[in-house]
Amino acid sequence: MMEQVNLGLVGGGTVGGGVWQALQRNGDLMAARLGVRLNVTRMAVRDPRRTRGFTVPASVLTGDWSEVVHDPNVQIVVELMGGTTTAREVVRAALKLGKPVVTANKALLSAHGPELFALAAKHQTNLYYEAAVAGGIPIIKAIRESFAGNRITRIAGIVNGTCNYILTRMKLEGAEFSEVLADAQRLGYAEAEPSLDVDGHDAAHKIGILASLAHGFWVKPGSIHTEGIRHISKLDIQFAGQLGYTIKLLGIIQPVAATAPTQGKKSKKTADDGHASAIQVSVYPALVPNTHVLASVNHAFNAVAVRGDTVGDTLFYGRGAGQDPTASSVLGDLADAAIDLRAGNHHRVPPFVSHNGQGTVASMDSISSRFYVRLDVSDRPGVFARIATVLARAKIGISSIIQPEGHTGETVPVILMLDAANNLSVRKALATIGKLPVVKSNPVVLRVENLD
Ligand SMILES: NC(=O)c1ccc[n+]([C@@H]2O[C@H](COP(=O)([O-])OP(=O)(O)OC[C@H]3O[C@@H](n4cnc5c(N)ncnc54)[C@H](OP(=O)(O)O)[C@@H]3O)[C@@H](O)[C@H]2O)c1
Repeated sequence: MMEQVNLGLVGGGTVGGGVWQALQRNGDLMAARLGVRLNVTRMAVRDPRRTRGFTVPASVLTGDWSEVVHDPNVQIVVELMGGTTTAREVVRAALKLGKPVVTANKALLSAHGPELFALAAKHQTNLYYEAAVAGGIPIIKAIRESFAGNRITRIAGIVNGTCNYILTRMKLEGAEFSEVLADAQRLGYAEAEPSLDVDGHDAAHKIGILASLAHGFWVKPGSIHTEGIRHISKLDIQFAGQLGYTIKLLGIIQPVAATAPTQGKKSKKTADDGHASAIQVSVYPALVPNTHVLASVNHAFNAVAVRGDTVGDTLFYGRGAGQDPTASSVLGDLADAAIDLRAGNHHRVPPFVSHNGQGTVASMDSISSRFYVRLDVSDRPGVFARIATVLARAKIGISSIIQPEGHTGETVPVILMLDAANNLSVRKALATIGKLPVVKSNPVVLRVENLD
């Protein structure tokens, strides 16, 4: 008889249901590949009486997660309920029992990662989390294992499908944010309460996890510079298009010049192993050149471009959410967990922050970027000279301008593409420009990421 590993699922919703159904479908195939059969023996849900799109025997279902975690026959606990309160209790309880845990919960890891990874180490067990970042894309394993021989010099990712879906439709249809958001909510691509996605927080959770993994120190969620997409207008998408760019919500992780001031601790030149110690970890909408592959990642798809000093450029592309893609990553973790259990590999997976534990997040003000700026100005002589003077005083160069023709006295948009300049200097200069009487509304400012 083939060896069997018993799983306890906490959560049988979108992802939990996907895992259950994929195991029904591909359980034999996985057993043949792994030499171990994965068997769900318990599943906790909030309401066991609710009708689901799949059938689970009554003997397996319970409304009490603690029955699942404490069942002596359950060998691996799979947390798929979401949230950061009960889910934290579930994961803590399982780890304390020395049971490996598989989770898809980025919010939980973002808020309590250090505690949970320390608990796994203390109890000599493993915490697996592939599905927590970019759904079906195996980016965690790639960075943690496949790129172990690399210094990661840049990660640039589209990791929120809702934002990418909205920005794609705004571009293709020439529609405004609010129109597309309402439609996305109707079609199920955006939540009724969309702020976790459209304000960039969900992307920040994922980018923080990737940054911690790539750079070996715990990136606190509050230290991640986070901007969302609510302020993006169809006008900016159109002007960006004229200039050869597409607007994407990008997560960016890259070492910055060693002298840059950092948030929190004083900056150090390098960490012990020679890694740069100040890292840009940010989420913001940016202009990406149409020639870059990330500009072509459309609709709800995700993509993560990873550059390593040994491997060079790599790209991971796929569905960043949804029942089956997310279940695929959970099943990959379950395969690892089952093999580890069988081999007696307690705590095989390196802890979350593994290599040096040092480093700081660079303050955004210290970082240089290129910028796209849209100003609504009165169309009269001398306006541009006034704006250019402020920028020149701040030593900020202008690389190109678009100024549609208007009629004297009308308000017209002026688009400036700025040369690379320090974020703080640009912020100050634009605050001054915004107060000029000829400038009729707050400047719209977006970074330009050439990613070369
Ligand atoms: N959905 C995605 O595409 C996706 C992608 C990547 C990662 N994730 C992550 O995966 C996790 C699950 O997401 P989901 O979309 O599957 O959520 P979901 O559809 O809302 O499912 C949540 C499940 O947890 C159960 N549950 C809630 N509270 C419970 C409690 N106190 N005790 C026992 N069970 C409880 C619910 O029971 P009932 O069914 O009875 O309500 C439901 O089965 C989240 O951390 C999410 O961030 C989701």
